Amino acid sequence: MSDYILRSARYIAAEYMEKMLCEGAVAVDATMGNGHDTEWMARLVGETGRVYAFDVQAQAVAATRTRLENAGLLQRVTLYERSHDCMAELVKESVDLAAFNLGWLPGGDKAVTTLLPSTLSAVGQAMELLKPGGMLVVCCYPGHGEGARELKALEELFASLPPQRFNCLEHVFLNAGPGAPRCFAVQKQQ
Ligand SMILES: C[S@@+](CC[C@H](N)C(=O)[O-])C[C@H]1O[C@@H](n2cnc3c(N)ncnc32)[C@H](O)[C@@H]1O
Repeated sequence: MSDYILRSARYIAAEYMEKMLCEGAVAVDATMGNGHDTEWMARLVGETGRVYAFDVQAQAVAATRTRLENAGLLQRVTLYERSHDCMAELVKESVDLAAFNLGWLPGGDKAVTTLLPSTLSAVGQAMELLKPGGMLVVCCYPGHGEGARELKALEELFASLPPQRFNCLEHVFLNAGPGAPRCFAVQKQQ
C-alpha cells in the first residue's frame, strides 16, 4: 500500500482490517462478492486463523472459491452461500473483525443488492459476535436508493449505541458529494 491514505472508503476499511487481524484471528466477510476482501482477510489471519464468508449468489461463492484455491488459502475460509442475516446461526465463535461491503456484485446483477432489513439484522448479529475490542467495518454506497436507506439507518443505529459499549466512527469525504461511499468503523469496548 502507498502512503496516500485518504483515497476511498474501501481503502480505509482495508486499513482497519490490517490493524485488527493478525495470525490466529477470526473474521467474518459478510459480503464476499468476488472474494477480494475474503482473500485479504485470509492472508491476514494466517494458517491458524479463520474467515467465515457469506454471499447469496452462487456466482460470488464460486468466484471466491476459485480465487482462494489459486492463492492456496481455501482451507482458512468457510464459505456460505447464505444471507449474512444467518450469521448468528452459522458462526459459533466470537470474532475479531466483521466486514460488510454493501451493494451489488461488481460486474454482476445490480438487482441483487444488499437490502436494509437483512443488512440491519446482520449488522446487529455481527456486533453481538465481536470479541471485546473487536471491530465492525461497513462500506456503504448512498449513491443509489437502497444504499441511501442503508446509510440513514446505519447512522441512526450507530449514533444510538451506548458509548460504554461501542465507539462508532463514520468516515465522510466532505467534498465528494452526497453519493460518495462512506466507511463506518465500530469497535466494541474491552
Ligand atoms: C459490493 S459486493 C462485495 C464485494 C466484495 N467485498 C469483494 O471484495 O469482491 C456486495 C455483495 O453482497 C452480496 N449480497 C447481497 N445481499 C446479501 C446478503 N443478504 N447476504 C450476503 N451477501 C449479500 C451481493 O451478492 C454482492 O456480491
